[in-house]
Amino acid sequence: MANGLPLRVSQQIQGNVLSAFNKDNMSFLLVNFNESAPARRWLGEVEPLVATTKQVEDFNEAFSAAKKERGGDDPPMKAVWVNVGLTIDGLRTLSTDSQRLSEGLRNPPGGHQSGFEAFRGKPRDADRAQRLGDVGRSAPEHWLFGGPDQTDVDAVVTVAADDPEELEMKIDEIQRISARHRVVTVLRLRGETLPGAREGHEHFGFKDGISQPGVRQFHEPDPSNPDERKGHPGTEMIEPGEFVLGYPDEHGRDPDAVPGWMKDGSFQVLRRLAQDVPGWWAQMRQATAHNVKGGEDRLAAKAVGRWRSGTPLAAAPNTDNPTAQAGSDDNDFDYKDDPQGLKTPRFAHIRKTYPRDDKFQDDQHRIMLRGIPFGRQFDPALGRGHGQDAERGLLFNAHCADIFEQFEFIQERWANDVNFQQPNDGPDPVIGTSGEATLHMKDSTEQLDFKRFVHTTGALYAFAPAKRTLQGLASGDL
Ligand code: HEM
Repeated sequence: MANGLPLRVSQQIQGNVLSAFNKDNMSFLLVNFNESAPARRWLGEVEPLVATTKQVEDFNEAFSAAKKERGGDDPPMKAVWVNVGLTIDGLRTLSTDSQRLSEGLRNPPGGHQSGFEAFRGKPRDADRAQRLGDVGRSAPEHWLFGGPDQTDVDAVVTVAADDPEELEMKIDEIQRISARHRVVTVLRLRGETLPGAREGHEHFGFKDGISQPGVRQFHEPDPSNPDERKGHPGTEMIEPGEFVLGYPDEHGRDPDAVPGWMKDGSFQVLRRLAQDVPGWWAQMRQATAHNVKGGEDRLAAKAVGRWRSGTPLAAAPNTDNPTAQAGSDDNDFDYKDDPQGLKTPRFAHIRKTYPRDDKFQDDQHRIMLRGIPFGRQFDPALGRGHGQDAERGLLFNAHCADIFEQFEFIQERWANDVNFQQPNDGPDPVIGTSGEATLHMKDSTEQLDFKRFVHTTGALYAFAPAKRTLQGLASGDL
């Protein structure tokens, strides 16, 4: 076992759960199985294409080492990766004993009840949609996938590549397999890293993908502080059972209580979130014109909790400070010295979604973020596809072991709740529902009225099983 890290070399856990695909081109094929037997044959041919944690992590390590050697330039190394998530409908179609499967999912021992319930249900269920804020323009009846009266999605095939041509070749290969087994691609979601200076940034313009949980048994701990990840100050180590089933977690649930076929699997949350970029910025501009000092850039940074460059406000509250941005320090902060939110408002996106405070038991509500932007950047000067009429946003993709306690909790109980952390803090101005917010500044307090500029346009829950479970389902042994 490499460095005594058993999950680092896992050949069972699919790539992109613990080891990020990290590719500039990532598409999601949403497929529908017609019948059980051909669907199993389809899975039998697709499963060998599915990347393991070990493969992806070996590549990522070699890539980082080569990049260091080249003084920071990307080395000419390329890879194409595949991941398969199955929805509850897909699992039922593939399983030879769907009764047993349903029962396993209905009565999980060891306190996994709520998470399995979320997976059995669907994001479009009225109560769930209401709780998550998927109402009005974000309501399931307007979705591109996962909505009522739409073709059921049985599986999500994630294909990621450095080279767009290699991506297309892999997708063609999968489409040929699908055609042979009467599996239909209902929709393809295309994600792409934004070009040029926007690389690594989301559509509002902010650097993304800076903070991710450290994972015990997967990442190396810092020898002088084993609760943090080595070489990543401020990155807390979380029990692996928060992301992969069948391992110790932060709740103290019995890892052996999960059904055997679920061990080494991970739940997946896929949401297509449309971002109204000019609308969001106009809101910032308007608010600053009326009552907030410091200009729209400052208020926007307060909404996110970081400057566009990624520098945390916790380290540089007044102006962006590139030295505070030095890679390894981007996460070395908490909000203990800022209870009122004078630097990072309590409504800021990164503070809402990860308060960095034990009092909120936030270790139990972490998620592995694997999203990628879709659509062209907003810049009408660049011509067609870059204006307000074209859609753009984030293909939000996340992994966790309990959808209810992790993704749904963050969205419903933290981001959308205007009274989290304290009464009238306001909604998360990036992903929350509309509402009034309180901005505390040194010598004044301002009331803001945040409208919503991120809308849900599709959502589904899936389960990315162990490689052995994919094989078992394909051969009809499950
Ligand atoms: C269009 C939608 C979204 C946009 C534009 C967006 C943008 C961002 C940005 C710019 C960051 C800062 C980068 C970083 O700290 O790594 C961030 C971090 C984060 N976001 Fe989002 N996000 C979106 C959706 C979501 C959703 C739906 C969730 C969960 C419900 C979420 C959870 C998080 C978390 C947990 C972090 C890291 C916070 C930390 O560890 O300090 N985001 N997001």
